[in-house]
This record gives sequence, C-alpha cells and structure tokens, in this order.
Amino acid sequence: MIVVLDFGGQYNQLIARRIRDLGVYSELLPFNTPVDKIKELAPKGIVFSGGPSSVYEEKAPHVDPAIYDLGIPMLGICYGMQLMAHQMGGKVQRAEKREYGKAEVEFRADSALMHNLDCKQVVWMSHGDMVVELPEGFIIEAKTEHAPIAAISHPGKNMYAVQFHPEVRHSVYGNEMIRNFLYNICGCEGNWSMESFIEETVQDIRRQVGSGKVLCALSGGVDSSVVAMLVHRAIGDQLTCMFIDHGLLRKGEAEDVMETFVGKFDMKVVKIDASERFLNKLRGVEDPEQKRKIIGTEFIRVFEEESARFDDFEFLAQGTLYTDIIESGTATAQTIKSHHNVGGLPENMKFKLVEPLKALFKDEVRKVGEECGLPSAIVWRQPFPGPGLAIRVLGEVTEEKLKIVRESDAVLRDEIAKSGLDREIWQYFTALPNMKSVGVMGDARTYSYTVGVRAVTSIDGMTADWARIPFDVLERISNRIVNEVENVNRVVYDITSKPPATIEWE
Ligand code: XMP
Repeated sequence: MIVVLDFGGQYNQLIARRIRDLGVYSELLPFNTPVDKIKELAPKGIVFSGGPSSVYEEKAPHVDPAIYDLGIPMLGICYGMQLMAHQMGGKVQRAEKREYGKAEVEFRADSALMHNLDCKQVVWMSHGDMVVELPEGFIIEAKTEHAPIAAISHPGKNMYAVQFHPEVRHSVYGNEMIRNFLYNICGCEGNWSMESFIEETVQDIRRQVGSGKVLCALSGGVDSSVVAMLVHRAIGDQLTCMFIDHGLLRKGEAEDVMETFVGKFDMKVVKIDASERFLNKLRGVEDPEQKRKIIGTEFIRVFEEESARFDDFEFLAQGTLYTDIIESGTATAQTIKSHHNVGGLPENMKFKLVEPLKALFKDEVRKVGEECGLPSAIVWRQPFPGPGLAIRVLGEVTEEKLKIVRESDAVLRDEIAKSGLDREIWQYFTALPNMKSVGVMGDARTYSYTVGVRAVTSIDGMTADWARIPFDVLERISNRIVNEVENVNRVVYDITSKPPATIEWE
C-alpha cells in the first residue's frame, strides 16, 4: 500500500488513482495523519501531494518531521517537494517567474525515477514557489529552463521529489515515472485489482453493517447500481432498494429502472412516486445551489419517511464518488458545486451512511460494475446527476420546462444512439436556458424557447471536452427538436470545455 498525504490540491485524488491503476493499493489521507497511524498502515511508500499553500506561510500545512525518519521511500509532488526541501533544511522562495503549463524537464542520466525513460520529458508545471537551496544530502535530479531545481532526491534515504505533476495526463510519461517510483524505488508488486477491491469492500460492508438493515437509494445509474450489487453481495436480504421518482427523471427512466431491477437481480426494490412533493418544494426557487440543497434534503426526508413504513433501517447506502466529495469541498479544496448526495445532506440525518465507492472515479466504478456482472446497458449508462433535470432547467423549475427538457433529451439520446456515438460521448443532454427568441415557422413569427445541447468527452468528469459530433448528426438533432418539441424554435450547441465551464449548466 501507498499512502498519499493530501495538502489540498484540487486533483490530489488523481495521484492515488494513478497508483491504483498501476496495481498498487493507495489511499489519500489528510496531511496531518499522525505518524503512528502511518506506521500502523506499514505503507511501502509515501507520496506528498500538491497544494495551494506556500511552505513558508505561517499556517501552511506541515507534516510531523518524524515522518522523514520512518525509512519509508517518499515522493514529493509540487508543494510536496517544497515541503520536503523546507522541512529537511533547504530553502524555498517565491519564483521570479511562475511556471504554469507544459515544460520540458531534463533529468540526470541515471535517475531512478527515469528508469527506461528518456531524460528529457514534457511535463505539466503549476507552481509559484521554487526550491532554491538543497537540503543536506540531497542532489538535483532534474532542471527546466526556468527552474534549475525541478526535481531532487536523497539517494541514501530513498526520498524523491518533483516540482511538476506526474499524475496529470499532460505529463506525457508521468505514469511511467510513478511506476518507477512504485516498482523500482518502493518495491511494490502491482497485484492489487478491482477483484481485490470488491472482496475487501464486501468484507468492509459486512463489518460496518453487522446484522443491521440497509436501505439503498437506487437511481438506476451506474453508481447506485454498483452500490446495490456490492451491498447485496455482502448482506443479501438485509438490503432493500428504494427507487424514488422525484419527477426530475428522463423520459422512460422510471420504467426502465423497475424493469431492470425488479426480479432480475433478486433484490427487494420498492418504488416511491414523490414527484409532486419535489416540484412543490422547488416552486419559485431560482438559485442553483438552493435547488440542489432542497432536492438533497428532500431526498433524505422521503427516504426517512417511506423507509420507516417498510422496515427499521439503520443504514443508507449511497453511490457517492470521490468526484462528488472533492467538488463539494474537502478541508482544503474549494467548493465548486454542492453535489446533492454530499453537500445537500441535512445534518440531523437518522441514517448511518454506507458509501463503498467514495474513493473511486466513475471509470473505476464501471470496472467494478463489469466485474460484478451488471449488464453493460447499466455499466455504460451515461452519468445522470442526482438533482436530475432540475439542474438542466435553468432557474425556476416548472412542469412546462421539464417537459421541454425531457422531450428534447429523448430526441438527442435517440439520435446519438442511432449514430453509434453513445459509447464515445461520455455524457450528452439538453438544457433549457431561461431564454426565448424570435423565429419563423410556416409564415408566422414565433417567440419560443432555445434548447442547449451539451455533449462531452471525459474520463472521470473532472475535466471534459465538448464532443466533436458530426454536423449531419447535429443537424438531425436540431431539426427533430424544433419539429417535435413544442415551444422550441432554436437549438444551440455548447462548445465549452471543463474547465472553464462545468459539464452541467447549473
Ligand atoms: P459538473 O457539472 O460538476 O459535473 O462538471 C460533473 C459530473 O457530475 C455530475 N453531477 C452530479 N452528480 N449529483 C450527482 O450525483 C449532483 O449534484 C451532480 N452535479 C453534477 C454531472 O452530471 C457530471 O457527470
């Protein structure tokens, strides 16, 4: 196992993620995890992540210096390198020129990090501080045009540190550098897999739940379906799945979910129609964050009330992913959006949570799903946000607007499927901005809604690019939407990546 200490960078979980992809179990822990706890975990290596602070600031996150005496190989990344250098007696200061973006580093000839790799590498830099004096015993591993100290090591102590970010895909051979650290420096074997994840998770669920009853919030999406499979595998009949129709689902979705789960997997599934209740609560509310919070709170309330009618449940199983947690703000990462299954949870909740996927990214969840035997239609179902169509109707949610989004989305899904692009495009949907414009239909002037089409490619939802849908497919989508969906006379295609936009429009 590898411990990654988190100093607050937005993409830190990617480090743990890359390590797991390389077959080594890894967990992200807070930077102030006590040294004794780390010792107990007996990791084969420790990675210090990046972070937004400057090591010389008063409140900058530091580690207990005893960690440097554990004799465990270490890799510092960006802030992690600066911290290592600073705490070991080197000097870090503000760089005259910030380095941001692609850079070329040149490693020394026999650097262990570069085993079997070219010394010159294109990497991703993002830093304002730099190491200007080495601590005792350290040597320079690499330099760039602007940073004479771009990577360092202490050969005797097996400590390595790099100023750039090997975990991001823009660092072309970043993965291989991490592999070298894991296999050649830490001596890891790379035998961890999704199968072992499933086994361990099933054991963990059994331990956590004991003989308690678990309610699973089943939405039919891959996340909650995988959670249901894992929990079912762990505790069988102690699990009841509840599918809440909040009236914010896509066309035909409620029916599909029931068809798929009822009977098929031998799970107890109950369906609750709560659409009126949700729509009433949302009436007159325009603010996106408030909408998310209302839906999140209402979800739990419905669960609490309805579940009490069925059994005495102690636990609620949810498909929270790491992306949900990180984007809702961790101790150090900033809040971008409150994802409804995290930020929207009321504080006085009655249930204890079972969240077996919270260390995973979407594509890892899909792998778990495949491994568990879920049908590919579910495993590859495009992600659908918990607050549903409410965040695709911008501003106030009304029945009329929901209908437009639902119908236009059905057209879009149909055309994407027909063109065979459904596996290629990660997520595609329509959104309804609060905007009307003038058009002409027949000989008459119209004043109707504009529908926005959003389609993105992505790996994990953290970053995304707009999908290059062929023009003829776009044309069919546009034609069909204006012809088949009432009260729409214009279709626009969103060509913004994430960042700077987000995937959803709210
Ligand atoms: P954004 O819009 O934040 O979306 O770029 C990233 C991914 O997350 C989904 N999403 C949500 N999922 N609850 C969810 O379960 C939410 O509140 C939520 N908001 C966004 C979004 O559909 C995309 O796949």
